[in-house]
Amino acid sequence: MLIVTGSPSPSSSQTWTADGYERNARFVSDLGAAVFALLAPRPGERILDLGCGDGALTIGLAGAGAEVVGADTSEALLAAARARGLDARHIDGHHLPFSSEFDAVFSNAALHWMARPGEVVAGVARALKGGGRFVGEFGGHGNVAAIVTAMRAVGRAHGGDISLAGPWFFPTPEEYSAILEGAGFEVVEIGLYPRPTPLATGMAAWLQTFRKPFFDQFRGDERAAVLSEVEELLRPCLCDSNGRWSADYVRLRFAARLGR
Ligand code: BEZ
Repeated sequence: MLIVTGSPSPSSSQTWTADGYERNARFVSDLGAAVFALLAPRPGERILDLGCGDGALTIGLAGAGAEVVGADTSEALLAAARARGLDARHIDGHHLPFSSEFDAVFSNAALHWMARPGEVVAGVARALKGGGRFVGEFGGHGNVAAIVTAMRAVGRAHGGDISLAGPWFFPTPEEYSAILEGAGFEVVEIGLYPRPTPLATGMAAWLQTFRKPFFDQFRGDERAAVLSEVEELLRPCLCDSNGRWSADYVRLRFAARLGR
C-alpha cells in the first residue's frame, strides 16, 4: 500500500515511483519469505494480495497456482504489477469491495500504511469465504523507533511538524489480536520479530524513500541540513564500523482464520 490514506493533508501523503522502489525498497519483497511460507498458498485458491505494490510477491502466489487479485493505491506500482501480467486493481484497503469470494487474504509490509485498521480488517472479513485465512506481516510495535525518534528530535529543533515523522500503525500483538477477534477471526498465531534490515543504499536513501513528506516540509539548505542531522544522530546505533547501515525493523507476523 503506497499512499497513507486518511492523511490530513496532501503534503503528508507518501508517493512512490517504480524505479525508486526498485532501487531503495526491493528488500521489502525480498524479505517476504517467512510470511509467504506461513500462508502456504495452494493451487486453485483465490487469494487477495492486499497492498501488492509492484507485484513481486503476488507473482509468487500466482506461481503457486493460486488465482490472485492484487490491490494497491499507487498507480506507479500498480502499473509495474500489471506489467508482470497480474490482475492488479486500484483499491483502498479501507474500502474493500469484495464479498465472500476469497480463500485467503495475504498482506506483506502494507497494513502499517492504513490508518484505520478496524475498517481494513472488517473489509478483509467480508472478502473471505467462511473459514478463510488472513495472513500477513507488517511493522509491529517499536518498528523503526530509533529512526522516528531521530526525525522527531531534528524536526522539533527546526520548528517542523513532527507528526510527519511517523504516521504508521505499529501495534502490539495484543492490540492487533483484539481487532482481528472483533471482526470474527480466530488468531492462529501472532508475534513480534525484531529484524534489523540491511540498507544497501544507506540511511539517507531510506529516509527519503520512506518518509519523503517529513523532509519535503523543509526547503533547500534546511532540507539538506535536516537530512544530514537525522543521519548523524542515527549513525552510532544503526551504522557499523564498516559504514554499513541497517534499519531497526520489528515485524508483526500473524495468521488468523475466519469463523464459518
Ligand atoms: C516497514 O515496512 O516496516 C516500514 C515501511 C515504511 C516505513 C516504515 C516502516
